Amino acid sequence: MNQPENSTDPFVSWLRNSTPYVHAHRNKTFVISFGGEALAEPNFPALIHDLALLQGLGIRLIIAYGARPQISQRLTQAGIQLSYQNGIRITDDKAMQCVKEANGVVRIDMEALFSLGLANSPMAGAQIRVASGNFVTARPIGIRNGVDYRHTGEVRRIDAQGIRQQLDNRNIVLLPAMGYSPTGEVFNLSAADVACATAIALEADKLIILHEGEPLSQQGQTLSSIQPRELDKLLQQQEALPEDFCLYLQGALRACRNGVARSHIVPRQQDGVLLRELFTRDGCGTLLSAELYEDIRRANINDAGGILELIKPLEDSGVLLKRSREKLETEIACFSVIERDSSIIGCAALYPYADEGKAELACVAIHADYQGTGRGDQLLSHLQQQAIAAGIQYLFVLTTQSSHWFLERGFQLSGRDFLPESKLELYNLQRNSQVLYKSLS
Ligand SMILES: CC(C)(COP(=O)(O)OP(=O)(O)OC[C@H]1O[C@@H](n2cnc3c(N)ncnc32)[C@H](O)[C@@H]1OP(=O)(O)O)[C@@H](O)C(=O)NCCC(=O)NCCS
Repeated sequence: MNQPENSTDPFVSWLRNSTPYVHAHRNKTFVISFGGEALAEPNFPALIHDLALLQGLGIRLIIAYGARPQISQRLTQAGIQLSYQNGIRITDDKAMQCVKEANGVVRIDMEALFSLGLANSPMAGAQIRVASGNFVTARPIGIRNGVDYRHTGEVRRIDAQGIRQQLDNRNIVLLPAMGYSPTGEVFNLSAADVACATAIALEADKLIILHEGEPLSQQGQTLSSIQPRELDKLLQQQEALPEDFCLYLQGALRACRNGVARSHIVPRQQDGVLLRELFTRDGCGTLLSAELYEDIRRANINDAGGILELIKPLEDSGVLLKRSREKLETEIACFSVIERDSSIIGCAALYPYADEGKAELACVAIHADYQGTGRGDQLLSHLQQQAIAAGIQYLFVLTTQSSHWFLERGFQLSGRDFLPESKLELYNLQRNSQVLYKSLS
């Protein structure tokens, strides 16, 4: 089969490989959020071009933006200091004036950039319409421990229907970090609060957070995916994370637990991050996906029976190699399982060859009733994290019937000579399995 990857022209190859993502994202609703820092940078027009491209590809876009540096600048010019109590800012009348001005200027600047359409520019012929308005209803944070937070507020309600109408008309919706109350007041909100509440209210397909600073990482390796519980733990441990980033992470967690299946936490500074995150397999940020109400965990000796039951039909049909109970029990520490209602519905093993920086992925199996629902992906990502944490550079797998599943997940075909020597000695010629590998660096 002539696969797209085989094209000698990198451009053709790249465009072909991105096609599945183009189809997958069309007509989907994405809430994308970034802070005012993005606007202050010379390459901000490039981000706007990328957003215009997404809109052109039929993605329904809501942009929830912050304007903190722009507000700070105005406050400094006016000789006003924003005071904080318990980590929450207090917005008095004068500060609120700066908030309104900064948000207005930022919106106008963005509208101008979306209007660009000169010949020979990336947005020639795009004719993008943007809409903003009173889509966010806010309430005051109020008085806490005797401190009146004045015009600092929080989201009370999102006008999902109003926003949907705009999206149906193929408009991009711009949401500043401000909201209005039924009393006719304006409140200063956090962009994270607006983005998260909007993603939940619209049942968005994705919440994409373009944050400042370093990517989410563990032991120096960027985390390509994370589960809500792990993120919870990370938030408790890493007190040093910047406040705005924490607000975003908490927002992503809330979105994830309220029906937003996927949140992408992407470091903004690199050029083209949005495109790489959405149109390449591995992306460049961290994917937070909704928790299955099941447990993915390391196996223990009590799981041996459940694993044997799960893999028996696959062994009988020759998809997986036969394993005795004794062998499985000896190797149980290498296995991870998905447990649901006390049944093992998925398993996979990771056998390290540490001297060679490689590890074998084996016995990947999802119960037939649960296939095709992303569990295989979750298990693979779980083992990938395990391998990264163990300093492994390459994963490899031997398979007779699932090579495409692995190819679609970033593995590449290789010859047998990729196998560690001790594994090569055990290679079963009769089975003639294909060898695939994936680099983890
Ligand atoms: C391969 C396997 C682990 C995938 O698990 P899963 O939970 O169904 O996978 P996901 O839900 O993450 O992905 C589903 C996608 O993979 C595709 N897929 C499933 N099995 C496949 C295979 N053998 N070859 C190619 N693609 C496959 C599905 O068609 C689906 O794609 P689609 O949505 O575009 O139709 C599972 O099918 C299985 O247990 N297979 C038998 C055991 C096996 O072959 N293991 C690998 C050798 S170690």
